Amino acid sequence: MLWTVEKIQHCLELDREAFENIRQTAEEYCEQQFGNQVYVRGLIEFSNYCKCSCHYCGLRKENQKITRYRLEKEAIIGCVEEAYQEGYRSFVLQSGEDSYYTTTKLIEIVSTIKAMGDIAVTLSIGERDDETYAKLKACGVDRFLIKHECADETIYNALHPHSSFEERIRCLRTLYQEGYQVGSGFMIGLPGQTTRTIAEDIWLLKTLHVHMAGIGPFIPHPQTVLAGESSGSSELTLRAVSLARLLIPGILLPVTTALGVKDEQNKARCLHHGANVVMQKLEPSELRNLYELYPKEKIECHTIREEKEVLETWLASCGKKAIFGRGDAKGF
Ligand code: 5AD
Repeated sequence: MLWTVEKIQHCLELDREAFENIRQTAEEYCEQQFGNQVYVRGLIEFSNYCKCSCHYCGLRKENQKITRYRLEKEAIIGCVEEAYQEGYRSFVLQSGEDSYYTTTKLIEIVSTIKAMGDIAVTLSIGERDDETYAKLKACGVDRFLIKHECADETIYNALHPHSSFEERIRCLRTLYQEGYQVGSGFMIGLPGQTTRTIAEDIWLLKTLHVHMAGIGPFIPHPQTVLAGESSGSSELTLRAVSLARLLIPGILLPVTTALGVKDEQNKARCLHHGANVVMQKLEPSELRNLYELYPKEKIECHTIREEKEVLETWLASCGKKAIFGRGDAKGF
């Protein structure tokens, strides 16, 4: 099918029954590309310091009510080593935009991880200059996540007073040119967003040639500008996931944590709407609870091994098989 923004918008607006066809096709496309395999990423949220002021995000620098933390290199490597023993071979290092981690520090961390074996490393650390992106690629970083958040430039600029849509797109294009596997994504339910905007969000994934896309509902955080707004729709989020799968069959689509906030069942539903990646947090539970992008239930303390077993069992109950290898995108 030849897609246009209008067609995507039309599909987003279909009634439930008519959309069921699209959901089924998305799940079929996913199975053609990846079988019943779901790629597991070990996620290390290594710092919740952030110099940005995103209107929706709990990590924004104006939030004084959050306890800030940073993990030093040794602690990060410790998490990776423990998870490596359990079979993890794909790691995502994520943080707020924190200049404490200079290019040199990041290179040291990444080089140590890459020296451990055939491991895919993804960074999710926000906007940096072209030179930094080039240096990080050269030291072995495989992938980079930086979501475009919202394809409507006016909305984007209003929500990100410290930067601009133009700058975000520049980062995404540079990363692609540097040879990274690039991950973008966006939120559903931002104030002012319409189904037309969401159609443009999905379309932008295609024009940016991204390999991955995290699509999740917006959830209001009390310590942010958008505290009084309502949450994004889970239903529309699932539809956006299916349509992203149809437009870009080989793409990596994670089940976002935000999708499980209103109802845990939505995460399983997402796997049946074309998603094929899950992220498992690896840092100690007391730190996970401080990485509060939006309000969520407190996590209890478990070992990496215990959590891996729970994850495998859950995926099996969804008819999926957990894969802990590199897990690359298809057909790029
Ligand atoms: N609701 C949902 N997702 C959020 N993010 C940040 N704040 C929120 C929120 N309130 C997501 C954004 C961002 C990532 C760090 O987390 O998509 O890219």
